Amino acid sequence: MPTVLILGASRGIGHEMVRQYRADGWRVIATARKQEDCAALAQMGAESHQLDVTEADSIAALGWRLDDEKIDAAWLVAGVYGPGHSGFPTGPEFDAVMHTNVLAAMRLIPVVAPLVASAHGKLAVLSSRMGSIGTRSATEGTLYRASKAALNSVLADAAITWGPHGATCVAFHPGWVQPDMGGSGATLTPEHSVASLRATLAGLDASSNGAFLNHDGTPIPW
Ligand SMILES: NC(=O)c1ccc[n+]([C@@H]2O[C@H](COP(=O)([O-])OP(=O)(O)OC[C@H]3O[C@@H](n4cnc5c(N)ncnc54)[C@H](OP(=O)(O)O)[C@@H]3O)[C@@H](O)[C@H]2O)c1
Repeated sequence: MPTVLILGASRGIGHEMVRQYRADGWRVIATARKQEDCAALAQMGAESHQLDVTEADSIAALGWRLDDEKIDAAWLVAGVYGPGHSGFPTGPEFDAVMHTNVLAAMRLIPVVAPLVASAHGKLAVLSSRMGSIGTRSATEGTLYRASKAALNSVLADAAITWGPHGATCVAFHPGWVQPDMGGSGATLTPEHSVASLRATLAGLDASSNGAFLNHDGTPIPW
């Protein structure tokens, strides 16, 4: 039975990943920052661990609990949008978004990538098309855009570091997805987005290491 690790599964896309991978017979290890959300994940058949991705101690504790695991697929899902405007952020806004979307990946990837490499598996981060500089044509959510561009840089470094050890590292845009972050006007349901993300990840091989892809596998310019 293959094993998937889903980091940030209390709701939204991560929660739907837990549901679909369980339905497909996978062993699921999932994290959430609140105890009640961990209990709900356990009810869904996942092995759940409490994790606040902004807390270094919390990440270190997860590392101990995952020691010696072999992970076939790992998804870094947790993220925040922050202010929606085009102006520059306050210091606290900057710290909150950058710590969640970027520093967390810098701390989690060294913990998770060796477990993925040992299974010759795949490590995916949920980035966003809004982080693409090559396709940029608007500026709203400027802090979120900067954070996802920085996350893409972190993923590119992970691909160079961990690809040769057997981990295929990829950044994904999940589409514009309902309900919370994407809002009610979003074009995709979590069910559709996750089905597409899972199918695309499953079809990738090592030649995709270091790619930035739409959920359906279409490449996105950095
Ligand atoms: N929805 C979209 O249209 C869209 C588009 C492009 C990219 N994305 C990306 O896809 C990912 C998931 O999006 P979503 O729509 O599922 O968002 P969501 O519904 O707002 O869920 C965000 C998830 O991140 C978790 N999280 C936030 N801060 C955390 C922290 N410090 N520690 C642990 N968990 C934390 C939340 O946990 P709590 O419940 O504890 O807050 C929640 O599980 C994000 O990285 C997002 O940037 C989404």
